[in-house]
Amino acid sequence: MKEKIKQLKKEKNAMIFAHFYAPSDVQEIADCVGDSFNLAKVAKESDAKLIVFCGVSFMGESVKILCPEKKVLVPDMTADCAMAHMVRPGVIEEMRAKYDDLAVVCYINSTAALKCQSDVCVTSSNAVKIVKALPNKNIFFIPDRNLGGYVAKQVPEKNVILNDGCCPIHAALTAEQLLEQKRLHPNALVLTHPECEPQILELSDYIGSTAGIISYAKNSANDEFIICTEYGVEYQLMLDNPNKRFYFTNPRPCCQDMKFNTLESVLSVLEKENNVVEVSEEIRLKALKPLDKMLELAK
Ligand code: 13P
Ligand code: SF4
Repeated sequence: MKEKIKQLKKEKNAMIFAHFYAPSDVQEIADCVGDSFNLAKVAKESDAKLIVFCGVSFMGESVKILCPEKKVLVPDMTADCAMAHMVRPGVIEEMRAKYDDLAVVCYINSTAALKCQSDVCVTSSNAVKIVKALPNKNIFFIPDRNLGGYVAKQVPEKNVILNDGCCPIHAALTAEQLLEQKRLHPNALVLTHPECEPQILELSDYIGSTAGIISYAKNSANDEFIICTEYGVEYQLMLDNPNKRFYFTNPRPCCQDMKFNTLESVLSVLEKENNVVEVSEEIRLKALKPLDKMLELAK
């Protein structure tokens, strides 16, 4: 199957993008594996006309918004991010009415419709930098209360208003689960994604995006780590550091939607060129503004 995919990819001049949470065999055949920010940036810069995006729907949608001339395919149309929808209708208008200098900062893990109503997008790797750079004092951070809360702590000069959304996978990690791993592995450093709850962040040695966690583990002199994020990152961690050890909380956090990106579905979508990501031009133009602003401010 891997050989067939490689051959078809070459014939069609296609590129396969995969998030670090995609299954390991899919990461293995991908041309580019990354965190949300890097994948969006590389997709925009690449000259491939056909992209197969192995992630969840907001990721494929973001690529289509940034690069309308490309044909973007997703292996499974039902792979979605639960958090991407977690903003109550009407709440953005209410906040804008309440604060006249409000900036609506939208985590990229959100629907195109939410991006349309926002001033700037962020990812977990650039949220602090971008919020710091904004001239506005009042920030409405959507949809993730945990990433928003983490940003608020790093940028105390701003009034960050949180929205009650979260990633169900990261929010399910408990302090007890982490403390159990710390007891079992007292010399391990704790590397955590900012979508985890504050009690997990407080027990961590490093907080960052999936790419940040991977790079921290590679550059650290330590050889044991407890990883507080989805277990898909293990593939890259082991590839980079075959002699280091990585532990996850029990049960291992798993985003089922990311696992819909199987080799079978990648091959099928490459053969049929179905599952095309479509975004209406009206929505695309509105959602493009905050995404472009993110790329500009993150430079
Ligand atoms: P990253 O941008 O850190 O890869 O995170 C994406 C994501 O979905 C985290 O749950
Ligand atoms: Fe969304 Fe959470 Fe899955 Fe990331 S891990 S894609 S935030 S549901």
